[in-house]
Amino acid sequence: MIMDKDIEKIVASEAKIEEVCTNLGKRITEDYQGKDLVLIGLLNGCNPFFSDLLKHIDLKVQVDYMRASSYHGTIKSSREVKILKDLDMSIAKKHVIIVDDIIDTGRTVNCIKEVLSLKGALSIEACVLLDKAEAREEAFDAKYVGLTIPTEFVVGYGLDYQEYYRNLPYVGVLKEEVYKK
Ligand code: IMP
Ligand code: MG
Repeated sequence: MIMDKDIEKIVASEAKIEEVCTNLGKRITEDYQGKDLVLIGLLNGCNPFFSDLLKHIDLKVQVDYMRASSYHGTIKSSREVKILKDLDMSIAKKHVIIVDDIIDTGRTVNCIKEVLSLKGALSIEACVLLDKAEAREEAFDAKYVGLTIPTEFVVGYGLDYQEYYRNLPYVGVLKEEVYKK
């Protein structure tokens, strides 16, 4: 791809991502047998992880989306998390899994979880493709984690830099020269 030249190294190949989606889907399928489950994707980063993961969940589930913002086009997370789009459906008496591309400081998922906990859900868990565990500033344990990665700025497979690179089919570290230009 034309964007390959901007990538320093690959942290999750297409094959690895496929394996991760298969395994996470299997675990969720086993854990939520007989339960009313709603999967909530966090826009825009959850795409395409969300759609690939959904194909591996063999349950009758509902799907909705929320949008929160914290990066504001930079490579650093900002302290303030804003809810830009709330849920459309009710999650009262339902089990919920928040699905996102990555947990970094933990602020976004924590804030979303807080908002959701006021809506009467029976349980709230999180499922992320990537976890920058060492970058955590607010405690948060995602029950479903694809891969734990070092604290480096990554792009691809939904993750962006200034809204670019989301369509890269793998996840890689962005060359410093790209964002220092
Ligand atoms: P947190 O609130 O700091 O945990 O940040 C979570 C959000 O920041 C994720 O939903 C991503 O959209 C974004 N983010 C965190 N790390 C990266 C990265 O390395 N590349 C691109 N986006 C990231
Ligand atoms: Mg995001």
